[in-house]
Amino acid sequence: MNRRAVVFGAAGQLGVELVRELRERRYAVLAWERSQVDITDAAAVERALVGYEAEVVFNSAAYNQVDVAEKEPQAAYLVNALAVRNLALGCRQVDAQLVHFSTDYVFDGMARHPYVEEDLPHPLGAYGVSKLAGELYARAYLDRALVVRTSGVFGPGGLNTARGNFVELMLRLAGSPNPIRVVEDHVASPTYAPLLAARTVDLVERGLAGIYHVGGGIPISWFDFARLIFEAAGVQPRLLATNEREYRTPARRPRYSALSNAKMERSGLAPMPPLKDALASYFGRRNRTA
Ligand SMILES: NC(=O)c1ccc[n+]([C@@H]2O[C@H](COP(=O)([O-])OP(=O)(O)OC[C@H]3O[C@@H](n4cnc5c(N)ncnc54)[C@H](OP(=O)(O)O)[C@@H]3O)[C@@H](O)[C@H]2O)c1
Repeated sequence: MNRRAVVFGAAGQLGVELVRELRERRYAVLAWERSQVDITDAAAVERALVGYEAEVVFNSAAYNQVDVAEKEPQAAYLVNALAVRNLALGCRQVDAQLVHFSTDYVFDGMARHPYVEEDLPHPLGAYGVSKLAGELYARAYLDRALVVRTSGVFGPGGLNTARGNFVELMLRLAGSPNPIRVVEDHVASPTYAPLLAARTVDLVERGLAGIYHVGGGIPISWFDFARLIFEAAGVQPRLLATNEREYRTPARRPRYSALSNAKMERSGLAPMPPLKDALASYFGRRNRTA
């Protein structure tokens, strides 16, 4: 019999890639989009799990609006924290492993090295606090939950989501005559959704649990990432560097939130390929589906 998996938040950037990756590996997959199952509804989550006998349940649903969360912290907390409690209790009931995704924004950005799993979380705002609480809920009710922290996710699925991603934002801005200003003093680990999905399933198939960082593999500023995006897209808009002082946002963000993949690599997983290759793949798939 095929291994069985359930994916919540299946229409998001990561959700679509998890469903594709799992089906390619011959899992039987039950994929729930938000319109079918809202994870903040505990009874709906229970109904979605009971009777399917899934071995593993992936939660790729999230409230990701970092700035808006400062105006509506309850909304962020409901989806990113309390709903994870629903999923953890559901997984406990049906004896499935929960795989939950978290963020580099659980850190304060004061480190001078790519963050490792042992570094102390210290989020700087409502989004980060809600995601950290989600990690705690996932691990409070389950002994073998897997929490994968990632950073700056971009995938072709972003073409179809309301929120999109940084690549699509840059391409939209490139279509206007104004110069594009991007911060050069904030560094992260932009991560290609199909690779994130593949590495996560690899972790599951190695029987691993606990916290793992799966980032794009190299620390890079948003300014340099924008440069790579325009190179890959073959466009040359006017790109100017700015910084946190000039470009204020409602939410505080960590200045340096690159993630170290060392633990993942020590577990025998392949390192991430260069970001340029990920962008080439992104544009290949984007051009096929656009
Ligand atoms: N995107 C990033 O830059 C980033 C960075 C670090 C970590 N992460 C983490 O990586 C994971 C995947 O993110 P992503 O980029 O794939 O996000 P995404 O593209 O925004 O997808 C999130 C999905 O969750 C759904 N959703 C929201 N609230 C829901 C609810 N109450 N019930 C069910 N579904 C709900 C959304 O549906 P609607 O579109 O209908 O709202 C959307 O389909 C998340 O855990 C996120 O926190 C993301």
